[in-house]
Amino acid sequence: MDSEIIKKIVQEMEYFTTPVTEIEGVPMYQIISDVWDKIYNFQARDGDIVVVSYPKSGTTWMHEILDLILQDGSVEKSMRAPCFVRVPFLEMAYTSLEVANSMPSPRLLKTHLPVQLMPPSFWEKNVKIVYVARNPKDCLVSYYFFHKMDKTMPDPGTWENFFSAFLSGNVVWGSWFDHVIGWWKSKDKQQILYVFYEDMIEDPQREIQRVMRFLGKELPEEVLQKIQHHTSFSSMKANPMVNFDILLPLIHDTSISAFMRKGIVGDWKNHFLVSQNILFDEEYKKKMEGSGLSFRTEL
Ligand code: A3P
Repeated sequence: MDSEIIKKIVQEMEYFTTPVTEIEGVPMYQIISDVWDKIYNFQARDGDIVVVSYPKSGTTWMHEILDLILQDGSVEKSMRAPCFVRVPFLEMAYTSLEVANSMPSPRLLKTHLPVQLMPPSFWEKNVKIVYVARNPKDCLVSYYFFHKMDKTMPDPGTWENFFSAFLSGNVVWGSWFDHVIGWWKSKDKQQILYVFYEDMIEDPQREIQRVMRFLGKELPEEVLQKIQHHTSFSSMKANPMVNFDILLPLIHDTSISAFMRKGIVGDWKNHFLVSQNILFDEEYKKKMEGSGLSFRTEL
């Protein structure tokens, strides 16, 4: 069953063409827009757990942590299938919806949707959402390299072009600013745990414990350590069930960049020009003012 699903999803990705359109003003792939009514009318269930993030914020990292917590730390169970089968990507490949619909509860799901595009059933059911947010400078750099190496992404153009596009929100899944602020403002609307990538890097054990408690689980210290070890950057880079370079070799050009690229805070310093940094800080100040949210761009 799994191998058929994997084949179907991979085929869907391989034939993916990337015209970008808009859904309610948010830049989005045409293939998502084509089946938008099905995505928007997706039926959440009580007990669903959803990882939500702006792209390149540590989504894969978080869903591995969640899956391992749900599997009581069993690495064998967490490696039962590739991550895109274990954790359907709600809006990406149409097959993901079929996979999600046929999964037993509790389901673990993934989405990059901004809060206003979330299917309404997620607000109606007893769902837990873990939102992962990453500072925008590292997000931008990671997203740029991802655009360059993943053949389903639009051509990012030059670094300067992509820098401007990101800052103005003219990239797929829209504005980073709108995304993180929109979800931050909604965090009391549903059971939402807001987690920062930088906090996960700083103290993974502490953040894994927060997530575990949010799920209402208690696991012994040694299991938590096992989870931390199995979800470290080096373990995930070597794990064929989460490393998309291994899962999608026809789609990822690893001669340009790896999916598990660097996994650090502060890589932006290697890419931002001084003038770009000044411009970015000005925009950040304007857009984040009054949001109550702040990000660390170095540790
Ligand atoms: P970089 O490109 O900066 O290395 P997503 O899963 O949302 O697409 O996020 C991908 C980013 O998370 C990549 O960032 C990737 O390296 C990083 N990442 C994935 N697993 C990680 C881990 N275990 N620890 C730290 N960073 C990780």
